[in-house]
Amino acid sequence: MSLTEKIGFLGGGMMAEALIKGILQGELVTAAQIYVVDPVEARRQVLRDTYQINVSADYGSVMACEIIVLAVKPQVMDVVLSDCQDTLSNKNLIISIAAGVPLSSIEGKLGDDCRVIRVMPNTPALVLAGASALSGGENVSEADMAVATTIFNAIGVALVMPESALDAVTGLSGSGPAYVFSFLEAMIDGGLKVGLPRVEAEKLAQQTILGSMQLAMSRADHPAQLKAMVTSPGGTTIAGLHELEKAGFRAGIMNAIEAATNRSRELGK
Ligand SMILES: NC(=O)c1ccc[n+]([C@@H]2O[C@H](COP(=O)([O-])OP(=O)(O)OC[C@H]3O[C@@H](n4cnc5c(N)ncnc54)[C@H](OP(=O)(O)O)[C@@H]3O)[C@@H](O)[C@H]2O)c1
Repeated sequence: MSLTEKIGFLGGGMMAEALIKGILQGELVTAAQIYVVDPVEARRQVLRDTYQINVSADYGSVMACEIIVLAVKPQVMDVVLSDCQDTLSNKNLIISIAAGVPLSSIEGKLGDDCRVIRVMPNTPALVLAGASALSGGENVSEADMAVATTIFNAIGVALVMPESALDAVTGLSGSGPAYVFSFLEAMIDGGLKVGLPRVEAEKLAQQTILGSMQLAMSRADHPAQLKAMVTSPGGTTIAGLHELEKAGFRAGIMNAIEAATNRSRELGK
């Protein structure tokens, strides 16, 4: 699906760049249809040189876009919304990726009839392998949701979910990359502990996680069945798994997701 609309980004940081890359790679729009406003000249230059998109230091050209992506940090969202509230109307489809900023606070600023979609993406979006959950506000149509889903499918997988689920999404897939990187780091350290050289330990650990994930996603098997495939009676794997169980590995992961979800709820208050 290619889009006829212009897409404007308020904030040209890491997540905005991931989206721009995916949108261009997926040929959803041309570079000429993308506008970015960012206060930092060096940042604007990188975006202009890399993607040949329109960049500016002021809101002007971005405000003329049909789709506006709010890609600034949550702390500056209030200021940005105050600056734009007189210019934006319900003709604009507003997509916010700011973590923890509820639909109601954006709708409260921009007016009751504004069309807002809130999205929780994650950092693998940078390599177009993100996981995003999208929640639509009261005035969002099915067509709006289809446009937003198309945009976020260009940077990975996009799921439409109720806003009430977004704290849990934050705990699972928003914070999730950090859990996976901790696991990767621990695998590498384990390799070092048993005497493997660092470079080889890193390669083997990375490929093991990547390959296991590709295997899991290529089959309908439950993870427990895939685990059973590697675990022979009295063998090496069951010896390792027993230690993970003693350390509370799976409970630790579940607790981490629960704690991150609760923290997201607290921050959103
Ligand atoms: N990174 C993640 O894992 C992740 C996951 C989910 C959601 N998000 C959300 O994505 C949003 C963007 O995150 P990010 O990691 O891309 O942040 P970022 O790299 O800091 O990007 C934000 C950009 O917006 C610029 N900016 C600041 N004030 C502005 C203004 N008034 N008008 C226009 N641009 C302005 C910033 O410039 P300065 O550097 O000068 O401030 C910066 O270049 C955040 O709201 C975050 O919560 C991030």
